[in-house]
Amino acid sequence: MKSLTSTELRQLYLDFFRSKGHAIIASASLIPENDPTVLFTTAGMHPLVPYLMGEKHPEGTRLADVQKCVRTGDIDEVGDPSHCTFFEMLGNWSLGDYFKKESIAYSWEFLTSEEWLGIDPARLHFTCFAGDADAPRDTVAHDRWVEMGVDPSHIVYLPKKNNWWGPAGQTGPCGPDTEIFYDTGRPACGPDCKAGCDCGKYLEIWNNVFMEYNKVADGVFEPLRQKNVDTGMGLDRTVATLQGVESVYDTDAFTGILATIASLSGKNYKDSDETIRAFRIIADHIRCATFLLGDQRGVTPSNVDQGYILRRLIRRAIRFATKLGIPDGRLCEVAEAVIRQYGDFYTELSENRDKIISELDKEQQRFANALRKGTREFERLAAQLCGKCIGGEDAFHLYDTFGFPIEFTVELAAEQGLTVDTEGFQAAFEAHQKKSQAGAEQRFKGGLADNSEATTALHTATHLLQAGLRKVLKDENVAQKGSNITAERLRFDFSFPRKVTPEELREVEAFVNEAIQADVAVSCEEMTVEEAKASGAIGLFESRYGAKVKVYTVPGYSKEICGGPHVQHTGQLGRFKIKKEEASSAGVRRIKAVLIHE
Ligand code: ALA
Repeated sequence: MKSLTSTELRQLYLDFFRSKGHAIIASASLIPENDPTVLFTTAGMHPLVPYLMGEKHPEGTRLADVQKCVRTGDIDEVGDPSHCTFFEMLGNWSLGDYFKKESIAYSWEFLTSEEWLGIDPARLHFTCFAGDADAPRDTVAHDRWVEMGVDPSHIVYLPKKNNWWGPAGQTGPCGPDTEIFYDTGRPACGPDCKAGCDCGKYLEIWNNVFMEYNKVADGVFEPLRQKNVDTGMGLDRTVATLQGVESVYDTDAFTGILATIASLSGKNYKDSDETIRAFRIIADHIRCATFLLGDQRGVTPSNVDQGYILRRLIRRAIRFATKLGIPDGRLCEVAEAVIRQYGDFYTELSENRDKIISELDKEQQRFANALRKGTREFERLAAQLCGKCIGGEDAFHLYDTFGFPIEFTVELAAEQGLTVDTEGFQAAFEAHQKKSQAGAEQRFKGGLADNSEATTALHTATHLLQAGLRKVLKDENVAQKGSNITAERLRFDFSFPRKVTPEELREVEAFVNEAIQADVAVSCEEMTVEEAKASGAIGLFESRYGAKVKVYTVPGYSKEICGGPHVQHTGQLGRFKIKKEEASSAGVRRIKAVLIHE
């Protein structure tokens, strides 16, 4: 088995699939577009959903990529050997091209051939879907592994809970999968220990999903227009396996980052269980924050949506930095280490370096201020206290108004012989989350946008809205900062330095409605990124040089790089109405609008 660095594995994977006729596509942004249900891109399939559903991809039917992903549902588990909020997913894709047989043969060759990873086949174990009322037992996958030379005793059938992937939300593309595990050689935990057991003996390294269904409702699975393959290999985890180290944090990807934390704190990563945990949390959170700040659709810390999660990551990293004795304001140096490690491949990090550092710096100062003010407020509350316990509402007030983490309140209280009603805090926190966070956390469990008529129409309306804003505000710098579409409304964030006046909003509305009344045909063309730029299309030029993109045009009104889908005629949209214009964050405005069908 080859011991590869993360950079080498990333490259080898792409080289392998390129040699099998796959086009290499760039990682999409971490911020999903037009998706009301998730805050971040959580898997490689996420940005490709329209193509899995049947939209044509400009680069063809065989694709491979390394997708940046963020999952923060398990944020409190970061610190253990395997949880990370940011990860890279290696994936190969068949969009109605090859299916189970080729997919399995590719995985086998990449993993076991001496030319590629050279893993001892005897170390590999597999799981396949056992079958149920929704879909049959996957004997095709099973038999294909056996044809590859796998001993049938290394293959187990497991139910949907283990061997079914997707939809990422309530509805969407999904299907049975076959998972590939590496046997670490550790003793079995019992007689039933086999692939799929989570005792640590078998590490999952790759998942091949055979996406041939569209879940339309609970228990209702329709065949998709085409049979797809979606695979996912976690880069860090596979590197840890190849390097024979216990945790992803012990791989070469983290060496420079952990060394920076060590020099800032004067402590060693492995000094104690506490230092291990703190080093890992800082490394993970600052890595994730650096990628979010430096993303193509870069996020900045705020109190809502992605910005809120980013703020949480940074502030949690600061708390652990303080615990380690790192002087205030030095986390930028950890971010620099992240940029050094990843900036060659993810060039957006190097390009946005100054923004990453200055935003991180500002957030560190804001948090320091919040802590100072919060401490004064805490003293005031403690002085007024009748009993010995700080109430949940008060603790929440410190958190909500001063950004004072509950752990700080508990620590300060303990110093003064007081306690804190943490359950009451939790209750207040949850009530607040429900009210104003619009289920931010729930959205991690949430699903992908459907391709329903309503969302498709709003998507086209979003293009017209952006074109209208650029025309009326006469500001070429009006740029999309975010888009979120539900079946009921669109929401569009864009850069603009001041409030848009009611007159301007009316003009924008009129622009969009004129385009609708003209009932023009929406067209889609494929061209290279450079051609798209030259043609005056707007949008995110995130694809690599020479790559093909789709450009949607509403002749006379809008021209934009976009994956689709869109309506065929603007006359299908109904009447466009702006409901609200407000600030979203510094320098960013937000518009909510609807389509009315009279
Ligand atoms: N979409 C599959 C996963 O995330 C490959 O595991």
